[in-house]
Amino acid sequence: MINLVLFGKPGAGKGTQAAFLKEKYNLVHISTGDLFRYNIKNQTDLGTLAKSYMDQGDLVPDQVTIDMLEAEVDRNPQAAGFIFDGFPRTASQAKALDNFLAGKSMEITATIALEAHDDILVKRLLERGLTSGRTDDQDESKIRNRFEEYNNKTAPLKSYYEGQNKFHSVNGIGTIDEITERLTQLIARL
Ligand code: AP5
Ligand code: MG
Repeated sequence: MINLVLFGKPGAGKGTQAAFLKEKYNLVHISTGDLFRYNIKNQTDLGTLAKSYMDQGDLVPDQVTIDMLEAEVDRNPQAAGFIFDGFPRTASQAKALDNFLAGKSMEITATIALEAHDDILVKRLLERGLTSGRTDDQDESKIRNRFEEYNNKTAPLKSYYEGQNKFHSVNGIGTIDEITERLTQLIARL
């Protein structure tokens, strides 16, 4: 079983690359951002709650996010493995994920960070904001706030996973194909 965490700032390419990796390795892709957007679209209570945070570029509270993620894993008992995209994003989410997986005799195989500079990421996100309908992509100050949240709450997870010898970093600048190739080579060495 391979369980990957795709790590990286907003716009780093987590969702784009997960779409290739899930096919190649037959994994279930779970994006907490996509799950929240699905709930917003369907006007669920969870969606209403999440929207108030996401529209500002703030993280949604931990327990809500953890419960949603665990329910999604439990919905896929036959999975050959998972790609966790955009989760965990805080220390308490990382610990919750480790405990939850351990309870199923599973574990994270590797955490892979896609690295790129803020200016490139802002450009990608503003461009997507022209067509995506994502309110958090449409205004540079909200994008910068997402980076702040990342720097304050998510970046510290690097040392958490380094402490487990599971942290790997990949250059996230280049064509989408080039980056897929870098990831494939890294995964082959795991
Ligand atoms: P989420 O949906 O996870 O968004 P994000 O991490 O902020 O960033 P993106 O999904 O926009 O970036 P990505 O890395 O997936 O890049 P993508 O492949 O799309 O989260 C949204 C919100 O939900 C959060 O702000 C928070 O409120 C909430 N949330 C989610 N998870 C949470 C959690 N665990 N805890 C608490 N709250 C949570 O690519 C971006 C763009 O760049 C695309 O247009 C793509 O086509 C383009 N692109 C990709 N690769 C390349 C390339 N190599 N060259 C050129 N363009 C490229
Ligand atoms: Mg994404």
